[in-house]
Parts: sequence; structure tokens; C-alpha cells
Amino acid sequence: MILIVGGAGYIGSHINKVLHEHGEETLVLDNLSYGHEEFVKWGEFIEGDISDTSLLEEIFEKYDVDAVMHFSAFTYVGESVENPEKYYINNLKNTLNLLITMKKHGVNKFIFSSTCAVYGEPKTLPITEDHPLNPVNPYGNSKLMVEKILEDYSKAYDFKYVSLRYFNAAGADPDMEIGEWHQPETHLIPLVLDAASGRTESVSIFGTNYPTPDGTCIRDYVHVLDLAQAHYKALNYLKNNNKSEIFNLGNGNGFSVQEIIHTCEEVTGLEINTQEASPRPGDPPVLVGSSLKANEILGWDPEWSDINDIISTAWKWHQQLYKKSTQS
Ligand code: UFG
Repeated sequence: MILIVGGAGYIGSHINKVLHEHGEETLVLDNLSYGHEEFVKWGEFIEGDISDTSLLEEIFEKYDVDAVMHFSAFTYVGESVENPEKYYINNLKNTLNLLITMKKHGVNKFIFSSTCAVYGEPKTLPITEDHPLNPVNPYGNSKLMVEKILEDYSKAYDFKYVSLRYFNAAGADPDMEIGEWHQPETHLIPLVLDAASGRTESVSIFGTNYPTPDGTCIRDYVHVLDLAQAHYKALNYLKNNNKSEIFNLGNGNGFSVQEIIHTCEEVTGLEINTQEASPRPGDPPVLVGSSLKANEILGWDPEWSDINDIISTAWKWHQQLYKKSTQS
């Protein structure tokens, strides 16, 4: 059985679905602070928090857990700057709790949801895994600190991990069973779709004087289901190799904020109002990743390489989500 911590959230719920499609049994542990119970459509569900060591003890006593996938981190960069303690308690201290309990119960396979935020301002593009690690905010620091703990655990104990550094997760399950639903929403694509659908008047463009062709930030958007497939491949890697690894997961193509807005107009057929706003502190102008290593070692090859297709699934989901919430 695979324990998915944070499996009621955006990325974790898509991984739960994909693991089921591959015949894996899953157990979701989520405190529902940001996740949604209705997203746990596969496997068993326990509501709880990884700060609760006695609950963790009970789970590892009761269930035959082969591997743990961990998604229950806070991810708001701005909030992490204002309240770093919140991030170090949950993303670092509580993760260590989980690792301590795993070790105690002899569970030695771990897949960690990491981020391109561990690199900070890129020195070279596309970013490879050996790029210097200089996070520029407490969120990125907390993820890097966990990676360091994992490296030390892996050297010292019978413990192996795969750390997956995502670029910008986007899109939704094409069957529309689950999708992106953050409260509050801070991510570009859902906010652009809010403006397209009239839920908001306009979308803000954070910075128009970056050193990029159109002056707006460039990001590497990767479909959430491609991320999910990479987790399944990482699980098999851990089952078949007694080795820890770190992989970037991105499409290797960069799109500017303006290009995303334009693509959303094309996909929705609607006009989108924008307004220029100040740059967001800590936003690097360009983040594009090389996933060559994941391709060579895991055999990961993203199926969703066309940004129009990625945004189409996000739009379909967005329409369904808000149709439901206006009816209820
Ligand atoms: N943006 C806008 N207007 C908005 C929202 C975002 O212009 O209303 C811009 C941002 O400034 C950025 C781009 O759109 O240039 C993408 O922003 P997102 O918030 O969608 O994504 P980020 O690149 O900031 O964040 C992602 C992950 C984080 C991770 C970060 C690493 O969601 O978890 O990459 O830098 F920390």
C-alpha cells in the first residue's frame, strides 16, 4: 500500500488517481486545511495531520505501507516570507516527524514533492539538477532543507528517496473527476480563467519590465497528469533500484504571462481584461527546466507538451467547478 500524505490536494489527488489506474492500493492522509475530501475518490482516507505522531504510529502499525509520497506542504511563497515559522513547522518539522515514524516502522521508500524554487534565481537555462541551490524565500528553503535531510538519511540508514522538483503544475484530469481548486487562488492560469469567465473583472500582470521578449515572466508549465505519471515511475525506480535520485519535472518550454493570457483567450474564445501591477517580490524572470535526467533514467516523457491542450483541460475544469458552486 502507498501512503499519500496530502492526497486530497491538487497534485496529490491526481497521483492517487494514476496510482489506481496502475493497480496500486492507496491510503490518503490529509488534514483538509487546503485539500478537498471529495477529491479522495480512490483508496482509503484518514483525516489527520502529520504533526500528530500518535496518529502516524497508528497508521504505520495498522497498514502495510510500502512507500510514502508526501504532498502536504504549504506552498504560498509570499506567505512564507511573512510567516516563515508556519512554513518551517509544517514543511520541515512535520516532515521530519513523518520520516522518524517511517524509519521506526521500517518503511524505507519516500517520494518527495519538491520544487524549482530550490534553485532561486537561475544562473543558466534550462535549469538542470546540478544547478546551484540558492532559494530566495522560506518556502524554497524549507523544501531544500528537507532534501538535505533526505540525502543524509539515505547515506546513513536503510532508506531511499526520489525528490521531484516540479516546475509550474497546470491543467486538470481530462475526465474532470479532479482539478485545480486552491483557496485562496494565487496561480496564474486559474486567475486568468477567472477573468475570462467574468468571475473577476481582470487579471493582474505582475511586472512588465522583465528582461524577456515581452517584458513578462516566463515559466515552464507541466500538466499535473504528467507529474502524476512521473511519481509512478519514481515508485518503480525505488522498487527496482536501491538508490536515491533527484529529478526536475518540466516541459522544457517557457511561456510568458502575456502568452498564457493570449492562449487562454484562444482556448476560451473570450476577451480577457488585464491590468499592469508591480512585480511580485522573489519572482525570477525566467524558470525553465531540463527534464533530460527524468527522461533518461525514469523514461518519463510528458504527454501534454502543447500549452493549448494543458489550458483546455484547466478551462473545462474551471467551468465545471464554478457551475457546481453557483448551483449549490
Ligand atoms: N502572475 C501574474 N499574475 C497573477 C498571478 C501570477 O502575473 O495574478 C505571474 C507570476 O508573477 C509568475 C507567473 O505568473 O511570473 C506564474 O505564477 P504562479 O503563481 O502561477 O506560479 P509561480 O511560478 O510563482 O509558482 C510556482 C509554484 C510554487 C513554486 C514556484 C517556484 O506554484 O509552488 O513556482 O518559483 F514555489
